[in-house]
Amino acid sequence: MTLTTKLLGSKAVAALTAPHGVDRYLEMFNPMWAATEVRARVVDIHRENPGAEGSAPVATLTLQPTSTWRGHRAGQYVQVGVELPGSARRLTRCFSISSAASLPGERFTLTIRANDEGQVSTFLVNSAQVGQMLHLSQADGKFTIHESAATPTNNHLVMISGGSGITPVMAQIRTLLRDGYDGRANRKVTFIHYARSEADQIFADELAEIAAGDNHVDVHLRYGDATFSEFELRRLVPDFKNTDTWACGPGGLIELVRDAFGEENPRLRVEFFKPPTVSTGSATGAVSFVKAGATAENTGATLLEQAEALGLTPEFGCRMGICFSCVKTKTDGTVRNVLTGEESSLPDEEIRICVSSPVGDCSVDL
Ligand code: FES
Repeated sequence: MTLTTKLLGSKAVAALTAPHGVDRYLEMFNPMWAATEVRARVVDIHRENPGAEGSAPVATLTLQPTSTWRGHRAGQYVQVGVELPGSARRLTRCFSISSAASLPGERFTLTIRANDEGQVSTFLVNSAQVGQMLHLSQADGKFTIHESAATPTNNHLVMISGGSGITPVMAQIRTLLRDGYDGRANRKVTFIHYARSEADQIFADELAEIAAGDNHVDVHLRYGDATFSEFELRRLVPDFKNTDTWACGPGGLIELVRDAFGEENPRLRVEFFKPPTVSTGSATGAVSFVKAGATAENTGATLLEQAEALGLTPEFGCRMGICFSCVKTKTDGTVRNVLTGEESSLPDEEIRICVSSPVGDCSVDL
């Protein structure tokens, strides 16, 4: 950190520039100047699946962050905030970083699918231009290879992904290859990916190169109706239950992978690219949002979705249970975590409403 950066981030400067803060003034002079906030300029946009009929478009955005960016580890995500045209509100969503681990201030990439229901993803993929400024958080998330490439826990790693869940996995594979993993004896990565079609395959050219290379990375691409099967995984990796594995994809895929590994297997790390959105439990009783004075029949959807259905606008970020932007206090009732199935009835409990669905009557301080 330079002396100037330290000075700009000091309490004294913050007091002098209150109530707006030093970053508001710096931003007016140059959007790439920041003392504590992180912003980034889009410097390149690459379309990943231009020929894929019937699939949502995917784009890779290369970002030049401000010097306040602390870098990221492969597998982490970042919150991206944008002010959409015509909207007074900044919307924030989480996106996985698709490039290899970065150092402070270094460029990195986000690979984003324009999700039908996603205003931010649709804007970034379809309307963002080179030069566009984005607001960012620091990188976060635990879906990482904790060890360095030189010291993985064993010699064989397994990566499993589905659809856009390939992005954090790709960041890991890119990091391993960049950092010399392939040059070490007995190392091996088995990578299995499920995509809708060959035309919809993100990173297709690079994956073909990796598959053809002499690099100890075995690439297995599955298209169409192919779904994960324990039988296939066992055929590729007989001792998979004792092999460090990272899996990222939609809820259905992750459930199948979890079933194969068994409950609480510490070798398996998962990240939901898209969590289940509806509770599998019985939807009975009423849901009350206390501050808003609104009550409705419990539909079984997440509390965030039920609040939005009533016209409320609670704060949220990722909608996947990872960023904690949506935490509220449940004042009464039982909720089920839609990712894990765990139920909790503790009074005055802080919950993430994006992944909590009520089981029977439930009140939330919202
Ligand atoms: S919106 Fe990110 S945890 Fe709920």
